Order: sequence, then C-alpha cells, then structure tokens
Amino acid sequence: MTDTRENWSARSGFIIAAIGSAVGLGNIWRFPYVAYENGGGAFLIPYLIAIFAAGLPLLFLDYAVGHKFRKAPPTAYKKLMNAESLGWWQVMVTLIIGIYYASVLSWAGSYMFYSFGQQWGTDTQSFFFNTYLQNGEGLALGFVPTLFWGLVIVWAAVMFILYGGVRRGVELANKIFMPLLVILFTILVIQAVRLPGATAGLNAFFTPNWEAMTNYKVWLAAFGHIFFSLSVGFGIMLTYASYLKRKTNMTGAGVVVAFANSSFEILAGIGVFAALGFMAYSSGASVEDVVSGGIGLAFIAFPKIISSMGAGGDLFGFLFFASLTVAGITSMVSILQVPIAAFQDKLGWSLNKSVTIVAGGSALISTLIFSTHSAITFVDIIDYFANNIGIVGGGLLSIILLSWLRRPLLKQLETHINQYSSIKLGIGWNFLLTIVTPLSLVVALALTLKSIMAEGYGGYDAHILWIVGGGTLAFFIVGAIVLSLIKDRNSEEN
Ligand code: ALA
Repeated sequence: MTDTRENWSARSGFIIAAIGSAVGLGNIWRFPYVAYENGGGAFLIPYLIAIFAAGLPLLFLDYAVGHKFRKAPPTAYKKLMNAESLGWWQVMVTLIIGIYYASVLSWAGSYMFYSFGQQWGTDTQSFFFNTYLQNGEGLALGFVPTLFWGLVIVWAAVMFILYGGVRRGVELANKIFMPLLVILFTILVIQAVRLPGATAGLNAFFTPNWEAMTNYKVWLAAFGHIFFSLSVGFGIMLTYASYLKRKTNMTGAGVVVAFANSSFEILAGIGVFAALGFMAYSSGASVEDVVSGGIGLAFIAFPKIISSMGAGGDLFGFLFFASLTVAGITSMVSILQVPIAAFQDKLGWSLNKSVTIVAGGSALISTLIFSTHSAITFVDIIDYFANNIGIVGGGLLSIILLSWLRRPLLKQLETHINQYSSIKLGIGWNFLLTIVTPLSLVVALALTLKSIMAEGYGGYDAHILWIVGGGTLAFFIVGAIVLSLIKDRNSEEN
C-alpha cells in the first residue's frame, strides 16, 4: 500500500497554515467586542483558563486523531472508534460555517474598497444596513446584486487556492498572506495607539471588572470563543494534522499556534480599543457609549473612526479591512479543506472533483442565501447555532466517547502524540479531558439550550429562529446520519 496523501513541505508549513486558520474574523472583530462585553481585563482570566482547560487539550486531541489515522474526521473517527457520524457532524458544521464566513469576508473585502474616499459617508450605520446590505424586515429574500458579486469574488479566490492542494494551494497561500497580515496589522496597531484618546480606549479594554467574573455568562463566552478562535472541535486541526509527516513534534507546534492566536487576538483588542478611545475623544462621549455589537463594531464603528481621521483615514481603513480580509481568507480555506478532504477520503474523489463539488456546491448555496436582503439575519442566527451548539456539541461528543466510554483509546492517542513531541502529555491532559473539559462543555451546552428555550435568541421572531436555527441543526443531524450510511468507495489511499 502506498501512501499518496499530500504532506506539508515541513513542520513550519503546517504551523503557518494552522496559525492562518486560527487567526481569522474571530480574532479581529469578535474577540475585542466579546472581551469588552464580558468584563474587559477580567475576561482575560476566564479566557486564559478556557485555553488551558479546554482549548489546548482538545487541540492536542484533534492533532492526535488526525495524525494517527491520516484522514479527515469521518474516516478518522470511524477508524478510531467506529464513530463516523461524529466526523460527519463536524464536517456539516464546517460546511455551514463556510457558507456564512464567506459572507462576512465579502463584506470586509467590499469595505476595503469603500475605505478609499470613505464612501460610507457620515451615517455609517445607515450605510451598512440600508445602502450596503439593503437589510429588509423579517426574512426578505429579494436579490442584492452588490452582495452577490462580493460573494462570487470571495468564492472564486478561495476555490482557486483550494484547487492548488495542500502544498501548492493552502500552504503557499498562508506563506504569502500570513506575513502580509502581520505587516498590515502591525502598522495598524502602531497607528491606533498613537491616536489622541487611545489610552482611554485601552483603559476600557484592560481595566478588570472583577464582579463580571462571578457571572457565569462571562465564562460561557470565554469557552464559547476559544473553540472557534483556535479552530478546534470542528475538524480543522484534525484535518490539517492528517497532512503531517510521521515524525512530528505536535505538542510543540500546538503551543506555538495557541500562543500566536492569543497574541494576535490581544493585539487586535489593543488596536480596536485604541481606535475606539480616539472616537470617544473626538466625539466627546465616553468609550462605553461608542462601542456597538460584534458585527457592528467592525462595519459601523470602524468606518466612523476612520471618517473622523480626515483624509489619512483612507489608509487606516484600508489596512483594517485588508487585515480582516487576509486573515479571513486563510481561515476560510481551512474551513473548506475539511469537507473537501472528507469526501476525498470517503468516496475516493480526486482533489479537483472534490473542490468542484464541495466548494462549488457551498458557493452556490452561500451566494443564494447571502445575496438577499436578510444576509445579516442569516449570518447572526447561523453563527450562533453553529458555534454554540454545532461546535460545542461535536467537541463534547468526541470527548465523552473517548474519555468516558473508550478510555484505552485515549491512552493510545496519548502514546501516539508523545512519540515525537517535546511536551509530553500525561496525567494532566487525561484529567482535563476526562473531567474538566467535558463538564465545562456540558454546562455550556445546557445553559445555551436553556436560554434558547426561555428567551429565543437576538430578539428574532420564533418562526425565523425555527426556520434558520432549526434548519441549521437539522442540517447537522440529517447530514451526519445520511452521509455515514453511504458506502465507502476505495480511494487510492485506502
Ligand atoms: N479560527 C477562525 C477564526 O477565528 C475560524 O475566525
């Protein structure tokens, strides 16, 4: 049997791609806002605890499963413990995330160009909702051409990279985009902290609100954020590790990836809050009053900040939205790589066939749904259900199956990862995965479900939540069951 699976050119190629996957839209628009909402500096403590208690243990688990079986989630989990449907659940989650991620990415790309001449005018909120998104009431499915073309460009770029395969596509794109992102973002952050009023913004970000730490929602937010941010629990790191060479120090790589991701996240917080401090300074308001919600922070508050900088704002805006776009593309590629590899493994499809069918099909659905007057409603609801139920549920199930029901397998994975790794996993990892991670995820999932039952989500009408949120969950369940029932075809690798 010859192993024809592609490999990263070197461990460094894998590390860059894994950082490229982790650092994405989640770091630049999501983290600063979530941290701010959840106690500012005090959020950093639950956040760090979440990394050590759940993020890193699960990251190592993803690495071990992917590397040992050299397959994407469905085939890897099938070989590990006959749990193919768990793998397909994770693939369904990546498919759903991929289709809305493209939408936010296309907004970032559009805003990169709107920065020139600050085309959003003075009322950035109205520009975002009315002029750009042409947002409608309820579920309005009419066609919005600007959104359509943005999506077409994003999907074409992402598919172009994916057709190149692991080494000439994914790895090469990361080697170009990641250094570019570091340069763009460093200039942006230096610019931001030099703005008048920046200190007030940074104080708002870093001043701990200890009381907030007693609120369980702050802990939920920290645990909820870390999986999406690190790209763990939904097959990405598992798939990326499947392209690693045999003798690889995986725990060392994992620590580098987690450290880079968090550094970037905190840097993003510093940049965004320094700029908000400037906005507060210019408008005479307090920082608390100029902050708006997640999506709004990037697309409403930021253009406002840029406008208040005068002509120099064009460059600042371009840097910000270009960073968002570049970071998002490398993550989007990693998200799509999961279903592409899963279908290759299961049905023996060639790379070209899998990219055309999987990414092409996703592109079609994504363009249909997100070039409508309800794009932001779809993004908001699907994001919430995919993250809080899809990722958390899939991650939880994999841990429970392994550490509660098939404990010897956990030991085997530990031995496998320890073979060539610098940091050895042992009793600590085992304890975290057996007690701390599953219990924290059970609590997180239960509280999320309780809150959806009691108060819905985001103030949306129940029928919209049923259609969009319920549809998302149905997609996960039906996909996981149906795809695991299909018979495997011999791939050239099996
Ligand atoms: N980890 C990616 C992000 O943060 C998905 O956006």
